[in-house]
Amino acid sequence: MWPWAKWQKWNRSWRTNRRAVEALPLYESPALREVTGPTLRPGGFTLTDRAVALCGLIPDAMALDAGCGLGATTDRLVSKHGIRTIGLDVPTSLFQEGRSTHSSKTLVGGFADRLPFGREIFDAVFCECVLSLLSDPGRALTEFHRVLRRGGWLVITDIYARAHKGASILKQLPLISCLKGARPRQELVDMVEGVGFQMVLCEDHTRLLKRLAAEIVFAYGSMQKFWTLFVPDGRLSELACGLEQARPGYWLMVGHKKLKAESSKLKAES
Ligand SMILES: C[S@@+](CC[C@H](N)C(=O)[O-])C[C@H]1O[C@@H](n2cnc3c(N)ncnc32)[C@H](O)[C@@H]1O
Repeated sequence: MWPWAKWQKWNRSWRTNRRAVEALPLYESPALREVTGPTLRPGGFTLTDRAVALCGLIPDAMALDAGCGLGATTDRLVSKHGIRTIGLDVPTSLFQEGRSTHSSKTLVGGFADRLPFGREIFDAVFCECVLSLLSDPGRALTEFHRVLRRGGWLVITDIYARAHKGASILKQLPLISCLKGARPRQELVDMVEGVGFQMVLCEDHTRLLKRLAAEIVFAYGSMQKFWTLFVPDGRLSELACGLEQARPGYWLMVGHKKLKAESSKLKAES
């Protein structure tokens, strides 16, 4: 946690250089990482470990960590669960930082909606707090489906909008964060099922988002002080309105790529 004086110094220099860093995504800022550590999302490994157990992933299974950030989940899947994992992320400074402690075979540069892998390679795809950042999440989901083996698992954790209304307000904000792309639950479920996954589980874990918010308040004094680092002063009330109306939540979704027999049975029935 940052001491107050250090935060103020960082805030002052950030404001001075505001023009240069205006487009800094929330997840790339040191301010967020001070609170979350290397897992750049609510809840740390809580849902990662839960998903491994739910999907029954066993050592030597092959996984893709799509949008791996610093590679924290990639490491966790390998070290705690013995799962052979490749992390993929866009080649930004965050990714470069991750790469400095990983081999080029473990963390690869690329885009979730254009995966540099052949068909049916992975037993699981993890996509933690990434889907809401993508301009075309449907295309990324299609890619996840393509690279998964039949019977493989898709694990998504993300921020979602618990109420329809505010999602469009959040979308207008000059902020690069999962909050901005938070979609209503049913829209996401339809997208995942639309590319051919069978939805196995859809659980609410908003308490993890609340816990992160509490940790931010402890570190920075208030949520407003934290948000002033990322949102221009004149638009803070818009952010407050969007948050109030969208009521952001956090969830875990698990999808299953159907086995051949299941697919043809469903086709025959339809
Ligand atoms: C909130 S961070 C989460 C990182 C990591 N999954 C974690 O939970 O620690 C979002 C990540 O998505 C990545 N990302 C954004 N757009 C992407 C894209 N088109 N393809 C792959 N990764 C992307 C960002 O670079 C960033 O590392």
